[in-house]
Amino acid sequence: MVFDGLLSNNVVDPKPKVSIAHLNGLRLPAHAEYFLRVDNEQQLFEGIVWATSRDLPVTVVGEGSNTVAHPFVRGLVIQIATLGLKLLHDDGCKLTVRAAAGENWHVFVSWTIEQGLYGLENLALIPGTVGAAPVQNIGAYGVEVASRIRGLRVCDLTNGEVSNLSPQDCQFAYRDSRFKSTDGKRFIILSVDFMLDRSAESILNYPELARALVDTTPTPSNVFDAVVALRRSKLPDPEILPNVGSFFKNPSVSSEQAQHVGREWPEMPQYPTASDRVKLSAGWMIDQLGWREATGQTGIGIYSQHALVMVNHDCGHTEDVLSLAAAIVASVEAEFAITLEMEPSIIGNPTD
Ligand code: EPU
Repeated sequence: MVFDGLLSNNVVDPKPKVSIAHLNGLRLPAHAEYFLRVDNEQQLFEGIVWATSRDLPVTVVGEGSNTVAHPFVRGLVIQIATLGLKLLHDDGCKLTVRAAAGENWHVFVSWTIEQGLYGLENLALIPGTVGAAPVQNIGAYGVEVASRIRGLRVCDLTNGEVSNLSPQDCQFAYRDSRFKSTDGKRFIILSVDFMLDRSAESILNYPELARALVDTTPTPSNVFDAVVALRRSKLPDPEILPNVGSFFKNPSVSSEQAQHVGREWPEMPQYPTASDRVKLSAGWMIDQLGWREATGQTGIGIYSQHALVMVNHDCGHTEDVLSLAAAIVASVEAEFAITLEMEPSIIGNPTD
């Protein structure tokens, strides 16, 4: 148990009342009751023991790029900034690389491309860290990260046990995993093992990506460049216009319901999935209802070029984000009889 002996030997020194505006994607004003940034796992374990011995809840973030923060987050917020890459296996064709949770996702993906490796190129330029990627099973341009994960090292907050989880243990689904459930929240992801290939077929089933690479046999680097260009053309740069990427999930409905929707709204994009469920385009629905560019007095609005992206133009607050989200959900429900679900994680509690 990694917590053994840490109570008497604790050297970490969390700071009280620290702003975490830079650690939530929409840059909402928010404070952690206590805050600690950890560069190594020992500090992380000490931080957990520091909090639990004081009966304080622990909230772990990477860069917070896919979180919406309430103004006050009770307990200890730990930012995981652990770095390190390790080659675990290489048979000349297939490799397994272990990346520490605090590695920046895009920097890590760029490194795999520099090595000429296939696997993560479709997931270029997604904000956030390696440790956050499995939590919401990041996905883009025809690839979900779950398809590239061999396993994870995790620490159980409740008892300090460090163990390995298989992909099956993680219950990955569309923008979802066990780590979002009450049961899974006890795990802190320490590192992730990725399966990469020296040669493979590029995945080009997203039409705009295929069009960008027509007439080539693309290398991972070609796909990476095309994905970066596509994302830059469609999505706002969070450094310039704070956002959390897609604010809602694309809703999944039965094939029967999808047929009904298709008869009523033939223009709405539909995406069949591996199961007999069909995903509908939330962006299309929100766009149809005129929410794009609908920025009110609050500074929070919908991005002018993509209706699925909420942005903070100025000095919006959490309550503005949640009330705009509720208004959008209600209008989509009224028009399409579909209930949208928020995509980012929420940290903190409105009553604290
Ligand atoms: N559309 C509109 N109006 C809009 C935006 C979109 O009509 O304002 C329609 C268009 O027909 C467009 C379609 O919606 O062709 C789909 O749009 P897009 O290709 O941008 O994909 P998305 O379904 O909106 C999803 C992911 C993105 C990912 C892209 C590409 C979710 C919640 N979002 O968006 O992921 O980059 O596909 O694979 O699944 C994220 O998770 O933060 C994210 C950006």
